[in-house]
Amino acid sequence: MKITISVIKADIGSVGGHIAPSEKLLQTVKQYVVETGKGLLIDNYVSFTGDDIAILMTHTHGEGNEKVHKLAWDAFVTGTAVAKSQGLYGAGQDLLKDAFSGNVHGMGPAVAEMEFEERPGEPFLFFAADKTDPGAYNFPLYLAFADAMNTPGLMLSPKMAKGFKFVIMDVNHTEGDRVVELQAPEDMYDIATLLRDPERYVVESVWSRAAGTQAVSVATSRLHNIAGKYTGKDDPVMLVRSQMDFPATGEVLQPFAVGHFVAGGMRGSHNMPIMPVKLNTTISYFDGPPIVSCASFSIRNGKLTGPVDAFDHPFWDRVRDHVSDKAMEMRKQGFFGAAMLTMNELEYTGIIEKIASIDKKFALRTVQKAA
Ligand code: F6R
Ligand code: MG
Ligand code: MG
Repeated sequence: MKITISVIKADIGSVGGHIAPSEKLLQTVKQYVVETGKGLLIDNYVSFTGDDIAILMTHTHGEGNEKVHKLAWDAFVTGTAVAKSQGLYGAGQDLLKDAFSGNVHGMGPAVAEMEFEERPGEPFLFFAADKTDPGAYNFPLYLAFADAMNTPGLMLSPKMAKGFKFVIMDVNHTEGDRVVELQAPEDMYDIATLLRDPERYVVESVWSRAAGTQAVSVATSRLHNIAGKYTGKDDPVMLVRSQMDFPATGEVLQPFAVGHFVAGGMRGSHNMPIMPVKLNTTISYFDGPPIVSCASFSIRNGKLTGPVDAFDHPFWDRVRDHVSDKAMEMRKQGFFGAAMLTMNELEYTGIIEKIASIDKKFALRTVQKAA
């Protein structure tokens, strides 16, 4: 059976700053999706990660379907009214357009979708990150799908040994989707060359070369590219199908034990390590650290079984402690060097304006030449 999984997420307001949506807001969005989705959706799962609400939907209408996207948009609009009534911070902030037109691409909410023929056993992972941008998934995807040091399946499974196709997007190009297809293992160094710059080049999808089927879909939207200014970090969602032709679930999860440094954290302007957290985790230290959650599911005829929380295991407690240490180490150097993002990635324009005003005070020193 051909099934589509669509996950659409937005920050439409949160309690106590950028911490988490209110219970009432979450319930409003849930109720809207359940009631309005009757007859359109097969199943749904509404959750939050930090201050973002994600609506995961299964159906048979394909990617970019107007009715499915409108359902999510209208659920967020309905939720925004509740957020405003409760005085939540940033109410409706990711809804950048006044009216829905066609689908939510370019309208603020992030989207990851995949249409596929269900396998007899169909495990998939739903990742949601807060206080970071879509390039945060470059590192774990490179390791999981291209590096045999992380993924022994690339050696052990004859199908996986054929490698994976990476579709990588240049997210600075705003006039349309500018993408390149590169093949692992032959193009490994080209893939690495692009993925080292996660603010510009972002993995959009990954495909099995043996089966021709899609394993990964990442929400690649960058809010500042849509709005022309910074309106918040993009806080990306990702869908990953695992097992058989694809890496095992554990091979996909392993790279998250590193707690790699990503753009995000306080005022969307700092480099911080990303922490793998339990489902429904809030935000705290330094408006961070950036977090990523993983809900694992099985799916049959579009019906979801799960979620089982992939990061709710004693192993990840140790990782979380390690990431806390890394976060505090980075914070010791305040605004200096690597702690803060480069000028054009800062979420505020204050520094640029300040430099422009200080610049006027610079003078060229006239040096007396030796006779
Ligand atoms: C992401 C997030 C941050 C804020 C940023 C700006 O979920 O909440 O990226 O958008 O910290 O915050 P304010 O609105 O406080 O200037
Ligand atoms: Mg936010
Ligand atoms: Mg957020």
